[in-house]
Amino acid sequence: LSGRGTIRAVSRLPERVDGPTTSVRRPLLADAAELLDLRRRNRAFVGPWDPLRPESFFTLEGQRAALRAIDAAWRDDRAYGFVVVDPADERIIGQASLSNVVRGAWQNATLGYWIDESSGGRGHASAAVRLLVGFAFGPAALHRLMPAVIPRNERSARVLRKNGFRLEGRALRYLQINGVWEDHDLYAMTAEEAAGLSGA
Ligand SMILES: CC(C)(COP(=O)(O)OP(=O)(O)OC[C@H]1O[C@@H](n2cnc3c(N)ncnc32)[C@H](O)[C@@H]1OP(=O)(O)O)[C@@H](O)C(=O)NCCC(=O)NCCS
Repeated sequence: LSGRGTIRAVSRLPERVDGPTTSVRRPLLADAAELLDLRRRNRAFVGPWDPLRPESFFTLEGQRAALRAIDAAWRDDRAYGFVVVDPADERIIGQASLSNVVRGAWQNATLGYWIDESSGGRGHASAAVRLLVGFAFGPAALHRLMPAVIPRNERSARVLRKNGFRLEGRALRYLQINGVWEDHDLYAMTAEEAAGLSGA
């Protein structure tokens, strides 16, 4: 809380945002077992695009610890981690997050996401990103979002471009992914551009 001017606004943030085919919600500790199953099933699929995870991450206690970290970050206005759910049956089909929230003159966050392999290709990632863009520039009052994508991850780049993100440039050795310092393409959108997309 120490001097963060935004804490009042943050306490009013919606914890769920619904779209017609895809919803995002703040996770609960009770989601740990479902997330563990999803993470285990998608380990080989997501692994090439994810930081290396300790073996403990793929245990119930590891997922509970990750959920506690997400909860603490929500409370401190540091990151907003969501589960992506199919509103037809409330099944968790992935995760999407605004992370590295910095206030002050920057009002910036990064954006990350993954979708269950067997639920892929149906627009869920694109819809979840659209919902997080609305959350970021609406209630969370951010000014800039900066997702980063490994250039060969064309599927993920497509999700960003479809949502109106603009390529800003290539950052060399930007993130350690699957054990390797990978170059990333930095995409961005500011609140002005988001307002243009929504026709405001
Ligand atoms: C990347 C990922 C999030 C996409 O999820 P998804 O729900 O399948 O995405 P969507 O259905 O919303 O959109 C995918 C788009 O990419 C296109 N696409 C699929 N495979 C592609 C490929 N190999 N090359 C280029 N585009 C591809 C799809 O046709 C679709 O575009 P369209 O709507 O114009 O047809 C998902 O595959 C995933 O979690 N991958 C592993 C983790 C990851 O890469 N996370 C992102 C790290 S930056």
